[in-house]
Amino acid sequence: MVPENILRLSEVNLTRNGNSLLAGINFEVLSGENWVILGPNGSGKTSLLRIASMFEHPSSGTVTLLEHTLGLSDIRKIRHLVGFTGHGISQLLRLDLIAEDVVMTAKYGALEPWWHTYSEQDKLKAHSHMEVLGVYHLAKQRFGTLSTGEKQRVLLARSLMSDPKLLLLDEPASGLDLPGREELMKSLSSLVSDYKSPPVVMVTHHVEEIPEGFSHILFLKEGLAMESGPIAEKLNSENLSKCFGIDLEVREFKGRWSAQSVAG
Ligand SMILES: Nc1ncnc2c1ncn2[C@@H]1O[C@H](COP(=O)(O)OP(=O)(O)O)[C@@H](O)[C@H]1O
Ligand SMILES: [Mg+2]
Repeated sequence: MVPENILRLSEVNLTRNGNSLLAGINFEVLSGENWVILGPNGSGKTSLLRIASMFEHPSSGTVTLLEHTLGLSDIRKIRHLVGFTGHGISQLLRLDLIAEDVVMTAKYGALEPWWHTYSEQDKLKAHSHMEVLGVYHLAKQRFGTLSTGEKQRVLLARSLMSDPKLLLLDEPASGLDLPGREELMKSLSSLVSDYKSPPVVMVTHHVEEIPEGFSHILFLKEGLAMESGPIAEKLNSENLSKCFGIDLEVREFKGRWSAQSVAG
């Protein structure tokens, strides 16, 4: 099957208060690809995701999602095609909602189950997303009583409920303890290996937070796309050192990565 073009940023620039936050970004996501965007704090990762999620217009350049071009298409017809899990949403949800309702209500972008009518089909769909992310056993548990990691995985299941064509994740592992992070890594690996899942673009600044199964990497440095391509080819000590500006050694072990500084 010929891969479909899901997202394309061409010559994207973003300038705010006279500062260039992103410059000359060319970035393309095809169906079947799962991308990691890696770069130090302040390199423009969140800015890039905000543009990809259609929440922000670039200062120049074009953004195309499927056949829709930002600025030329009706934004209301495009936005729901992108699932976005950042921080924020967790605070909006009532803590005594049960986890399956937190997932299911995303069908209409709602926060409460009584605003809409849901079918048995909707519930089954919520359960199947929870299953993929390893949180089905928590379906009847109140959201407020879940651990941070469990909440994060329930919110991921929620973001799949509207059938997005692209899923964007901004530092999904931040704030998790080691078991929480590892559970999330497992969930994300099972998500990207599920043929029904949309392509995922995940932002992080730790190579330890790259789940097994992600295929491509974009290195961002000071708002520039320093390097991009298949992870197996591009994630190495040379590129990582250049991106973070210190001498680092990268190791791969069973499909996961780690890095440490080497004495110069
Ligand atoms: N609205 C804004 N106005 C001016 N500067 C901004 C704005 N938003 C972000 N920045 C700056 O842009 C840079 C990139 O930010 P961001 O995309 O959040 O980076 P990252 O997610 O990689 O940490 C940072 O230096 C930040 O301070
Ligand atoms: Mg950020």
